[in-house]
Amino acid sequence: MREILVTSALPYANGYIHLGHLVEYIQTDIWVRAMKAQGHQVTYVCADDAHGTAIMLKAEANGITPEEQIASVKASHEADFAKFLIEFDNYHTTHSEENKHFSELIYRRLNSAGHISTKDVEQLFDPEKQLFLADRFVKGDCPECGALDQYGDNCEVCGTTYDATDLKNPYSTLSDATPVLKTSKHYFFDLPEFEQFLKDWTRSDNRLQVSVANKLQEWFEAGLASWDISRDAPYFGFQIPDTPSDEPDKYFYVWLDAPVGYMASFKNLCDKREGTDQALDFDRYWAQENEHKTEVYHFIGKDIVYFHALFWPAMLAGSELRTPTGVFAHGFLMVNGEKMSKSRGTFIKAETYADHLHPEYLRYYFASKLSDKVEDINLDLEDFMQKVNSDLVGKVVNIASRSAGFIVKKYDGMLSDVCAEPELLEDITKTGDEIAAAYENREFSRAMRLIMQCADKANEYIDEKKPWSLAKIEGTEQEVQDVCSVAMNIFRQLMVYLAPVLPELTANAKAFLNIDDLSFASRNEWLLGHKINKFKPLMQRIEEKDIEAMVEASKESLAQSTTSVASDTDVNNDSKAAKNTQLANTNTDTNTNTNTEQADYIGIEDFAKVEMKVAHVLECNHVEGADKLLQFTLDVGEDKPRNVFSGIRKFYEPEQLADKKVVCVTNLAPRKMKFGISEGMVLSTGDPKTGLTVVTLPDDCVVGDTLA
Ligand code: MSP
Ligand code: ZN
Repeated sequence: MREILVTSALPYANGYIHLGHLVEYIQTDIWVRAMKAQGHQVTYVCADDAHGTAIMLKAEANGITPEEQIASVKASHEADFAKFLIEFDNYHTTHSEENKHFSELIYRRLNSAGHISTKDVEQLFDPEKQLFLADRFVKGDCPECGALDQYGDNCEVCGTTYDATDLKNPYSTLSDATPVLKTSKHYFFDLPEFEQFLKDWTRSDNRLQVSVANKLQEWFEAGLASWDISRDAPYFGFQIPDTPSDEPDKYFYVWLDAPVGYMASFKNLCDKREGTDQALDFDRYWAQENEHKTEVYHFIGKDIVYFHALFWPAMLAGSELRTPTGVFAHGFLMVNGEKMSKSRGTFIKAETYADHLHPEYLRYYFASKLSDKVEDINLDLEDFMQKVNSDLVGKVVNIASRSAGFIVKKYDGMLSDVCAEPELLEDITKTGDEIAAAYENREFSRAMRLIMQCADKANEYIDEKKPWSLAKIEGTEQEVQDVCSVAMNIFRQLMVYLAPVLPELTANAKAFLNIDDLSFASRNEWLLGHKINKFKPLMQRIEEKDIEAMVEASKESLAQSTTSVASDTDVNNDSKAAKNTQLANTNTDTNTNTNTEQADYIGIEDFAKVEMKVAHVLECNHVEGADKLLQFTLDVGEDKPRNVFSGIRKFYEPEQLADKKVVCVTNLAPRKMKFGISEGMVLSTGDPKTGLTVVTLPDDCVVGDTLA
């Protein structure tokens, strides 16, 4: 029996659970249930991630204390998880005694081993709110192209990345005050000292998926930097211990104590179970010397790999604790092939989904999509309905519904004493080994395919034997009972295989089959001369109208929810580090795109507002002192040529564009920039960071004509 501790990432305590989150919790829960069904001792813990500036500000906006804020969100998270049958052994919070204890312990050990240093850091400070401003809370004019209202880390117009301190006319988004520069002492964790350790760790024992290990390799090559682990007051978090008493208090950055929350939740569980027959020994899982006796796995999204595969193992190794056996990353959720969108009603809260549809539909659909790869998964609502209806209702439940009636009505619920098709049952038992391996390797889509193949075999068998026709012929009583008994036995095997995915349906099936074991080993137990109970429909078909109603309600719930505590997907102040260190680019960063979401659709009248004209490039030149810009002189069919700056210098030499026909947006308000006034915009495609292509038009286009 293996002893395994499993975690999912700790959701932030300032927002509700949505279907994107559920990819992870459902994935982990299925894995945990599958491993438990194999007879392993598996413990699944999680917690709310309760610290940080965003949560503090959220509470303030709601007029409550941070403690009240996180308590209310925790209750709503737990209710959502319960609806989706996510069965944690413990759900705790990072704002807990245990977490304080272990965060301090780890910090002190790192400190005494010389892994902590301090450095003065100059940062923008909001003199009104009296707090240091993370980049996301500062806006101003781009230092490069002059575009107004850009965030403190990069310009969305020209793509330049810069420090918040470089912004022109900066203002605090919290108070509109002009920030001032202020220096304060910060504490740093010396990550580079762990480079060799991490390189070895990454490549050993299949701890990481190949694509994750490769990404880490890139990060090693780019060079590791010390990690700023302190924040100044006011901050909602734990105070850093042992700092000089004549200096201002410092707090642990939320990402320092967040992963420690895994340990803290486990400790909390150990304490709860002390003295019971389910007692757990904390040190057996976390002491370094026990590293090979037990296993610890973290399930996470691809956006937080940096924290789990670099900082966290380094922190643990540096404080002489065991490191994770494996870190399993998954991709992001798309809905109908696109990022989740509030205006389209595809940004769906867990709660809204559960109001309209059964959670097990989603569990099955995600299972049928998930693999061990870090790939985004797509919830196509049409496909979702068809797949669930045809696989679960049409194939699996159908086996029972077409056989159970005969057994109950004609044979008083009794199954045959002997099995008429032992080979068929044995074949399905054998497939079980592959299914179990697929579960363990997190190849759930493969497991679901194999299960459906078994269901197909059962249905083919029934179709071939036609018990409903047989029943009309005299003298076939035994045969009809035998055929239906075979079908019921296969159905039982399928319930074993589907139990990790569909715990509720399979529990109901258990009652109907009148059995008390659906563990994996029980797939060999044939029900012979066994009495079953009356069949009740185990699952209804999904109806289109339910999906439509859910999508509609998701559009509404956005408008309704902007003021409620657990409803916000505001940027988390501290998510920037994660953003910069993503494993792969993803545009479903639900923490940051709330505002743009709402503008997904525009009316034709909005489109018509933009005037785009065919422009002839009369001149294209470098701009003295600007390494991102080119200056165009454009003939757009007016009396005078226009002057336009464009942030494409990195990708073009001016002569490549001279004399070309390009598209110019002509009714943008002229913008005053450091180098002159820009009287329009030249359209291009691509990513301002990696490569832009100016849109050029065929030579026979007429200068000054509008595009529509
Ligand atoms: N609080 C941190 C995790 C700390 S772990 C020590 C955090 N919280 S989160 O609420 O933003 O996300 C929780 C988990 O859900 C993360 O693993 C994240 O990747 C995952 N997902 C959030 N949105 C998601 C999608 N749209 N799609 C798939 N997974 C998503 O990060
Ligand atoms: Zn710019």
